Amino acid sequence: MKVLVTGAGGYLGRGLIVPFEEHGYELRLMDVTPIESRHETVLGSVADLDTVRRALDGCQAMVIAHMASRQAAAYETPTMAFDVNVKGTANLYFAAVEQGIRRAVLVSSTGVQPYKDHNFHDRHEPMRSTGLYGLTKVCQEIIAEQYHREHGICGSALRVGCIMDGDTMIDKYGKEHTGRGMSLTDRRDIGEVARLSLECRDIGWEVFYVLGTPESRKVFDVEYTCQRLGWQPKYDFTWLPL
Ligand SMILES: NC(=O)c1ccc[n+]([C@@H]2O[C@H](COP(=O)([O-])OP(=O)(O)OC[C@H]3O[C@@H](n4cnc5c(N)ncnc54)[C@H](O)[C@@H]3O)[C@@H](O)[C@H]2O)c1
Repeated sequence: MKVLVTGAGGYLGRGLIVPFEEHGYELRLMDVTPIESRHETVLGSVADLDTVRRALDGCQAMVIAHMASRQAAAYETPTMAFDVNVKGTANLYFAAVEQGIRRAVLVSSTGVQPYKDHNFHDRHEPMRSTGLYGLTKVCQEIIAEQYHREHGICGSALRVGCIMDGDTMIDKYGKEHTGRGMSLTDRRDIGEVARLSLECRDIGWEVFYVLGTPESRKVFDVEYTCQRLGWQPKYDFTWLPL
């Protein structure tokens, strides 16, 4: 199976592809900034439909992991946030239908259901984001779900927390984490759930919480992800103090 990964040069993308490589997948990596890789690469924006068509040509599945950069002040107005996150995602699903692609994974966020009240969140609860970033993540999930319902594209949204590299403990902003934040999740663990979701034969449309720490299970329905896909995080961060 050849899989397109968008945002593949980003913090998540660089770790997400590792389980796919370990399982011998053919990958095509897309990003708006150049990527050095042994895999096929496509340089261009997901906001451009023709570029997206070219990127998906010959693929059988896609993993959507791009986002407008927070560092580029992309969330001060809707313009870039919606162009990249929302229009980019709609372009990908639209082109996937044109090309008969039936499998997709969307990287979403726990931010579609803020957890500040520490209630337990299951995957059926209605989304209620705050802020422009959260709004774009909600829109992405709505697009993905509709393309499943209307066009039969099967797959999942992965609601992830604070993405981390469990070996270095340095996050995407270069900050080192020395404590066990509840929502830490290793980027390769997210890749493994994406892979398992693409391989799951009886999947229609599902939401999976993907978080690594034991504490996250008291707040989000990670247990379902484990049972449904036979997944266990390799990185649970229990070596760090709470
Ligand atoms: N980092 C976190 O802690 C975190 C938490 C929750 C959810 N997420 C989600 O994880 C995903 C990846 O985030 P990340 O942290 O790796 O972000 P990142 O900024 O490190 O990577 C995003 C990548 O997308 C690329 N990109 C930007 N605009 C593009 C465009 N127009 N066309 C193609 N590619 C484009 C960027 O160049 C970059 O390489 C996003 O969906 C994000 O919402 C991240």
